Amino acid sequence: MNLVSVKDYQELSEYACNEIEGVVRANPHSVLGLATGGTPLGTYQEMIKGFAERNVDYRHVTTFNLDEYIGLGREHPQSYYAYMMNNLFNHINVSPDHIHIPIGNGEGLELECHRYERLIEEIGPPDLQILGIGSNGHIGFNEPGTSFQSETHIVELAESTRRANARYFSSLDEVPQYAITMGIKSILKSKRILLLASGSHKANAVKTLLECDPDEGFPASVLKGHGDVTLVVDEGAVGIDNIVNSL
Ligand code: F6R
Repeated sequence: MNLVSVKDYQELSEYACNEIEGVVRANPHSVLGLATGGTPLGTYQEMIKGFAERNVDYRHVTTFNLDEYIGLGREHPQSYYAYMMNNLFNHINVSPDHIHIPIGNGEGLELECHRYERLIEEIGPPDLQILGIGSNGHIGFNEPGTSFQSETHIVELAESTRRANARYFSSLDEVPQYAITMGIKSILKSKRILLLASGSHKANAVKTLLECDPDEGFPASVLKGHGDVTLVVDEGAVGIDNIVNSL
């Protein structure tokens, strides 16, 4: 696992955007794995800027999102579908039929998991996967204890995850209890992975990740066994003493 240390959130966002744009320029038919949450918002703003100012062309790009809440329709403002449309897809020229996000409010959720995993197999895997990290080490919505062999599945969200995401809802009660997420095994299929961590509230998770061996109790630790992962941290997320060139 490589470690890239940047000054602040803006630099982290520019770094991630630059990597994404590099992949898309090298192969206009690239597959991108995308995340939601607070961390990639700046990256998406930079991508929108890049589309407008640097002529980055997403017409032939395919995207797979990591996860979606169960029980929220796509039109719900806090669905991850709405998040992606509002924060990225409505502002770049990605083709609507190239956008893949699990459907969390239909009948047959198990079938949906199966369909999504097969789609990743057929079209994917992502050339580059963007990940954030939960304070408990989750990646996607794979909470501690999730099997490293898991494919796309239904998950019950940890209390800490629901609390962290309650900031987007009017109360904790409104935060869904379940989600569909790409599994750990699905995520590891990506050719390259960028794991982004910004701010002091991520420092403990980053420290644990740096120190621990792969362990299902801390899902992000599985990334240490993948051949091409870069952890991008800003000064808030990692103490200055921990800055090294590689792990
Ligand atoms: C989002 C996702 C989650 C988030 C993680 C960090 O699609 O899968 O793993 O990346 O919860 O969230 P933020 O960025 O809000 O701190």
